[in-house]
Amino acid sequence: DEFTEAILYVNGVRRVLPDGLAHMTLLEYLRDLGLTGTKLGCGEGGCGACTVMVSSYDRKSKTCVHYAVNACLAPLYSVEGMHVISIEGVGHRKLGLHPVQESLASSHGSQCGFCTPGFIMSMYALLRSSKNSPCEDEIEECLAGNLCRCTGYRPIVDAFRVFAKSDDAVYSGVSSLSLQDGSSICPSTGKPCSCGSKTTNAAANCNEDKFQSISYSDIDGAKYTEKELIFPPELLLR
Ligand code: FES
Ligand code: FES
Repeated sequence: DEFTEAILYVNGVRRVLPDGLAHMTLLEYLRDLGLTGTKLGCGEGGCGACTVMVSSYDRKSKTCVHYAVNACLAPLYSVEGMHVISIEGVGHRKLGLHPVQESLASSHGSQCGFCTPGFIMSMYALLRSSKNSPCEDEIEECLAGNLCRCTGYRPIVDAFRVFAKSDDAVYSGVSSLSLQDGSSICPSTGKPCSCGSKTTNAAANCNEDKFQSISYSDIDGAKYTEKELIFPPELLLR
């Protein structure tokens, strides 16, 4: 029966968890799947290179909650019934970078790149878990668990300021981010300016309405809109 299976979703794909993996961390599991964008740095919760986003359904509040999690510390079975999004689930191989990725790249916030997936996932989790746009302090705080040995942090923090409330985007030149397709990121939501329109579908309960669609960098001059990974409906029933 489907409810006796231990499952999780990884980047929108359903996975059945076999017995006998109690020794395994979420990081080891992801890397064994071939998802090697999530890095092993310290292995003890200190560097953030292994950060992924874990989403679960909170029955009390009837909402989906999203957390940035150190995959090196999380036992695999601790995320049973949850949706794990790793860096491979952000952006699109064909359509281009997610705005969080594009902003970091264009601000030169990635050098050797080892810390980059972790920074992206921390910021991505903050945006997805914020009902309103985060303020600059929240953005800096959400990056507190991520270490970078190359950039000196300033380009990273500056890159993510475009996602802060417009009142807080006081740093000149970062109040909005222009994408290659000519559209721009709304500084209040971190989304292309079509954001903010309310939808009444089931996912709206999960704060997912803001993330139903998103524009990516263009390919060959064409404009693409693609859906963001949503919370798997099956997990709402468990
Ligand atoms: Fe350093 Fe997980 S590898 S926090
Ligand atoms: Fe090298 Fe951050 S870019 S550690």
